Amino acid sequence: MRAPLIAGNWKMNTTVSEAIELVKELRQGLDKIDNVDKVLCPPFISLVAVRELIEGSPIKLGAQNIHFEPKGAYTGEISPLMIADLCQFVIIGHSERRQYFNENGEVINKKVTAALAAGLKPILCIGERSEENEAGRTEEVVTEQLRSSLAGIDYPDELVIAYEPVWAIGTGKAATGEQANKTIGFIRRTISQKYGERTAQGIRILYGGSVTAANTVEFIQQPEIDGALVGGASLKATEFLSIVKQTSEIRGCLLEES
Ligand code: PGA
Repeated sequence: MRAPLIAGNWKMNTTVSEAIELVKELRQGLDKIDNVDKVLCPPFISLVAVRELIEGSPIKLGAQNIHFEPKGAYTGEISPLMIADLCQFVIIGHSERRQYFNENGEVINKKVTAALAAGLKPILCIGERSEENEAGRTEEVVTEQLRSSLAGIDYPDELVIAYEPVWAIGTGKAATGEQANKTIGFIRRTISQKYGERTAQGIRILYGGSVTAANTVEFIQQPEIDGALVGGASLKATEFLSIVKQTSEIRGCLLEES
């Protein structure tokens, strides 16, 4: 069975001192839960401080973006090697990067390739926009996003995928568990066609988009959904802890049953 993973994407929120406060509030509670992988993705400038605070704990660290070159004259950018020195994970292809920073399939493919080469686990975000959803094009859109993002990648074993319908991000309008499970099942079948069933069964696919403590159960109880990428609700310690705790309880029960 795939280990569940809950990642908190703090986006462009928290100063360094606020990040430190948030981690202090989270640490004790998160440390107690051992059957869920927990990943915190603070802004770049807080990575060093957060890393120090989580040392010796099972909490993992992730960045929110990388440049695809290992080093060089790219003012303001952060390389995969710099991140691999601090983190285990990196979010790539988030819809906000696609929308506001013009990241296309080609750029995202370079970033996924560079992340894997640096030993990072990419959390590749894919998902359809509202009008694509309404036109019934969800499967077509995620198929194309997977095709372009994973072109030329032979061993995606360390990959995590986050299915994040754009219309559900930050809107309070989450997909239903059933909808998300259906699309994530489709994503897994698409991965299976490219890499084989064994690889597809090993890759974790998360749901993201307005996940809160109140709707966690709806997603985590679905068989295809391996966890969540949480934005807004990851900035509140009690809320994020509750999401991780509920995931642990549900998965704990599932393990006992099987
Ligand atoms: P949200 O963001 O939970 O605030 O909707 C999710 C994300 O963008 O990863």
